[in-house]
Amino acid sequence: MAFFIFKLLLISVVTELAYSCRPESSCQQIYKQSVAPVSGEYQLCTPTFINVDVFCDFYDGYGYTYISRESLGVLQTLSQLYTNKSNVVVRHRHTNGTQRGVEIAPLSEFSNTYPISVQLSQAVGFKLPLNAAMQPYIYLGFLPESYAKSTTKQGYQVAGVDYTFTNCDSNPNSYLAFFTNPSNGPLNDYYTRCCMTDLVGAWVTKATDTPLKHYLPKKYFYDFEMHMGGCGGYVSSGSFPTISGAAVGFKFVV
Ligand SMILES: *[C@@H]1O[C@H](CO)[C@@H](O)[C@H](O)[C@H]1NC(C)=O
Ligand SMILES: *[C@@H]1O[C@H](CO)[C@@H](O)[C@H](O)[C@H]1NC(C)=O
Repeated sequence: MAFFIFKLLLISVVTELAYSCRPESSCQQIYKQSVAPVSGEYQLCTPTFINVDVFCDFYDGYGYTYISRESLGVLQTLSQLYTNKSNVVVRHRHTNGTQRGVEIAPLSEFSNTYPISVQLSQAVGFKLPLNAAMQPYIYLGFLPESYAKSTTKQGYQVAGVDYTFTNCDSNPNSYLAFFTNPSNGPLNDYYTRCCMTDLVGAWVTKATDTPLKHYLPKKYFYDFEMHMGGCGGYVSSGSFPTISGAAVGFKFVV
């Protein structure tokens, strides 16, 4: 009898947990279950039944998942957010509220050898960001340290165009990172006065206006930092006085 009651209790606790979280675990699943999916904010359920706030940005047959700053710390991994990590969109928000976005990728010659490395609050095999203390953070690595430490042609792709530089001194920086936690800052802006280049600015200057119905709420925009080389350039949030943050969207295909 006691065992039976215990079992009943256990079942109700487990059921309770399951229902404290909507059943979908990805934007892809929400898309598949909707007749006419509408871009917007949704809550996903992690494998441990915790709610996370995401923006599901739906297009015809595919979409992008953005995760809010507050929810990033809840995840153990980002892998439930995408099916295809070789396609990443970076959105930025101007202080006047307008939003622009663009797709970034590895250099065309590295698209098979070095797909973008998506990491959560770490940079295994890659150079650690200067602002790693502002964790949790999303890390996008282009070329691993083992390759980027050579004085070779390096860079990344923006809207299908390669942006390259030659690494002048073997500093193996090759990343774009998004930080959630300004209280662990301030943002290390040491290089902002010196190192803006066309290359590290391209994901901002080549971005195109986002249609209003795809606009993200403010909580999806992070502080950021991009660092390339050895002579490729460096930008952080402080480099752009008219930009109030950047968001990263991971692609899923339906
Ligand atoms: C991922 O994206 C690449 C580049 O667009 C494409 O070639 C590939 O088929 C996609 N993979 C999946 C599983 O959708
Ligand atoms: C908002 O600011 C950006 C960057 O300064 C500018 O290009 C854009 O035209 C502005 N939009 C509006 C509606 O003022």
